[in-house]
Amino acid sequence: MSAIDDIEQLKTQIREKIGHAPTLEILDQERVELLGRKGALTALLRGLGELAPEERAIVGKLANEARAAAETLLEERKSELTARALDDQLAAGRLDVSLPGRMMPLGAQHLISRIRDEIIDVFMGIGYTVAEGPEAELDFYNFTALNHSMQHPARSASDTFYLIDQSGDEHAGPEPSEVLLRTHTSPVQVRTMQREKPPIYVLAPGKVYRRDTADPTHLPQFTQMEGLVVDRDITFADLRGTLDYFVKEMFGKDRKTRFRPHFFPFTEPSAEVDVSCGICDGSGCRFCGNTGWIEILGCGMVDPEVFMHSGVDTETYTGFAFGMGVDRIAALRYDIPDIRILVDGDMRFLRQF
Ligand code: PHE
Repeated sequence: MSAIDDIEQLKTQIREKIGHAPTLEILDQERVELLGRKGALTALLRGLGELAPEERAIVGKLANEARAAAETLLEERKSELTARALDDQLAAGRLDVSLPGRMMPLGAQHLISRIRDEIIDVFMGIGYTVAEGPEAELDFYNFTALNHSMQHPARSASDTFYLIDQSGDEHAGPEPSEVLLRTHTSPVQVRTMQREKPPIYVLAPGKVYRRDTADPTHLPQFTQMEGLVVDRDITFADLRGTLDYFVKEMFGKDRKTRFRPHFFPFTEPSAEVDVSCGICDGSGCRFCGNTGWIEILGCGMVDPEVFMHSGVDTETYTGFAFGMGVDRIAALRYDIPDIRILVDGDMRFLRQF
């Protein structure tokens, strides 16, 4: 086969392979194979030296023409394929603006937060404001200022989470400067009285911690709502009236309250308050343990000892305080038999509210 035939064959290959390369990558492969340094055309030009001079001129001219034609074809095919790739890309990314949007799930307030806010609303309506205190609290505010003796069982490391044990070895017993997770919101009473002068009408909502095992009525972390009133001529009758009003606002006008004598180190006298069972209307059922009543809070008249630690003049002022479990109020409002479900994060439960 002559060199001229070789060139004709190469031109055919160029037309077919470069002219019809299906993709840009394949086009580039063909370019390397046919026109590259180790390609067919280069091999042919290298062979020129072995030809007779007159044949060499003809073949060289033809080879150069073939290269020029190939390069033109290459550019053409390249712009064709590039345009097609762009078309494909546009077609794939086409937006149907008439399609309905995707629904994003909307978050909502947790039941406990909602009940907390409802309780605050009731008391704001009669002139209370909201106070706050730290969850990591000093022993002084959580126990000492609230008249707990050094031996009080609530101070033991089996009831209370201590954050910093300054003794270094075994829990050597409480120190007023020790830091713990507050076991109730009552320390906010002391902090508020130290900060503000009476008249004081405050609510203190917040998380509290106890070393309890979770069961249907207990959680190691739960939410309390503290109330504190300090003013002239405050009596137990004011406490009763206030809580009776709260219960009726929160649970309905037909609900009754009952005060049972109790003991708290920081109130004197103290009481626990029950609300008549909403399931059986007080006649006794499984929900209320057949008593007709459900306990909702602890309360009492502020003990003068607490006033002394808080800098309140006991000659001029008296006051009352109360503390309730917000989780328990929520459970009562919605007849929830096990408060653990409130913090399980199960959306099937939470979405109902
Ligand atoms: N702090 C008490 C508790 O956690 C509740 C309480 C608050 C009682 C205020 C009396 C007055 O059980």
